Amino acid sequence: MASVPSLAATVQQHLLDALSAAVPEASTADPMLRRSDRADFQANGMLALAKRLGGNPRELASKVVAALPAGEEIQELEVSGPGFLNITVADSALTRQLAARATDERLGVPYAESPGRTVIDYSQPNVAKEMHVGHLRSTVIGDALVQILEHRGETVVRRHHIGDWGTQFGMLIQYLIEHPHELDHASDGAGHSAGDREGDGEDAGEAAMARLNRLYKASRAAFEADEDFKSRARDRVVELQAGEPETLRLWHRIVDESKIYFQDVYERLDVEILDRDILGESAYNDALHDVVRDLEESGVAVRSEGALCVFFDDVKGPDGTPSPLIVQKSNGGFGYAATDLAAIRDRIGTLHADTLLYVVDARQALHFRMVFETAQRAGWLPEGAARQLPFGTVLGKDGKPFKTREGETVRLVDLIDEAVERAGAVVREKSAGLGLSEPEIRERAAEVGIGAIKYADLSNAMTRDYVFDLDRMVSLNGDTSVYLQYAHARTRSILRKAGDEPRPVAHPELELAPAERALALHLDEFGDTLAQAAQAYEPHKLTAYLYQLASLFTTFYDQCPVLKAEGGTAQVENRLLLSELTGRTLRQGMELLGIRAPEQL
Ligand code: ARG
Repeated sequence: MASVPSLAATVQQHLLDALSAAVPEASTADPMLRRSDRADFQANGMLALAKRLGGNPRELASKVVAALPAGEEIQELEVSGPGFLNITVADSALTRQLAARATDERLGVPYAESPGRTVIDYSQPNVAKEMHVGHLRSTVIGDALVQILEHRGETVVRRHHIGDWGTQFGMLIQYLIEHPHELDHASDGAGHSAGDREGDGEDAGEAAMARLNRLYKASRAAFEADEDFKSRARDRVVELQAGEPETLRLWHRIVDESKIYFQDVYERLDVEILDRDILGESAYNDALHDVVRDLEESGVAVRSEGALCVFFDDVKGPDGTPSPLIVQKSNGGFGYAATDLAAIRDRIGTLHADTLLYVVDARQALHFRMVFETAQRAGWLPEGAARQLPFGTVLGKDGKPFKTREGETVRLVDLIDEAVERAGAVVREKSAGLGLSEPEIRERAAEVGIGAIKYADLSNAMTRDYVFDLDRMVSLNGDTSVYLQYAHARTRSILRKAGDEPRPVAHPELELAPAERALALHLDEFGDTLAQAAQAYEPHKLTAYLYQLASLFTTFYDQCPVLKAEGGTAQVENRLLLSELTGRTLRQGMELLGIRAPEQL
């Protein structure tokens, strides 16, 4: 099914035609069509154009009106103020538009004109460590962007650049060699057996993390207290980098154990992360020597006090001395920067991506600026092809970075549990009359609680810090996912009562009430909103759209009886069409954001 051009796009085209007919030298001018409170749309591009051509804007606007081809979309057109055009579209055009969208699987949303190939680096937790709210943001934002881009037809390659390499592995592995039973399941004390009863994934994930935590603490204690152990741990790093089989085997064990934990968190968060897309820092190990050699040979990097460095005129430390990007340390070790450079070569050179995205904490902005600049100087990265999508910090209610009462970082799993629990209370209260079973309530609670966390994260501009406030997040009134889920469930309940099938027929000859028009005009904007969210990499454009859609639907629902419409069957059908399209648009939008839309709430 072909995409359905928005009414806004059609009106814009009419204006362009009229403009070039009325003033041939203005054929490239933008009429600047916007939604407006005075009419449906306002175009104020005539002001700038008249200025450019040296004419009177009102006269120019009148000429455009006169040249406007007769069409069925525009019902009223008037010149106002200094030379604005106020445009009202016909009710019949609105209803036809809804009907056309409703017949299409994709709700009429077009694919991007020339989709490309994007590698997106997101959800990159660190092995042997707990995931925290920073990883939550990267996971939720990254997942939404993947869906939004793919929906537009972009080819998206996911890369989870997990922290699975580095000196701390020497310490962990050495400890494991000296205490071979440290990671054994039997010794975790929690008494879990490897059964396959329900909920075992969760237990397995938690248990894996508990074992890793214990290993981490014990090995760190040994590292700090015992000089001999410290030096054995350092030697172990060398063995690891050299690929000594037993060392590698134990490294794998630690990584695999972590992956069990990650997958448990992902499952609870309701995001799909595939093992084949997890390419940690270790994956680039073999390429690091080439990176270093090429940078040194080309002179992009230079040796300074033994380390291989890249300098930037505008990057200086607090004392005014340059602070370089260190590609290789003076002891020969490679760090985070070297790995990122190797990854860029792979993503551009081997994966042939034309866009690289990095969904990473804003606090790493300088790192990425230096890495991108280095890769450009080396000729590995076309200018403008890579972009960090930096996100802000999650704050507690006190406005400081979110911590537990004891001052520790908040464990992601605890946060998820709490959100689901709070959501459970809301669901119990709200759906008391629906006769839901206990398992149904729990399922709904997960959908509402996880949705709430994701929505709160996505509805803020990415770069802004935001306060993690569960009370607000699960509130039924306000800019929350529950509000959207509730509006969606309402559309479903109306349609169920109407018998659900067949798809409602449209009656363009009927006049529309103000709330119907407002809703229809907003539905018309769905495709354009998705395009903007994808082009700017801003999921919050979509959340804002959906929130407004839910609000307009709520007004419509209050003002316009659907099944008991006073205008008879035809009006009932028009309103069913509006309800159906609103429901599907909400569902589609939420799906792209990773938020479930339950049938009942
Ligand atoms: N593992 C890092 C962290 O937890 C984030 C990695 C970001 N991606 C990258 N290509 N450097 O902070």
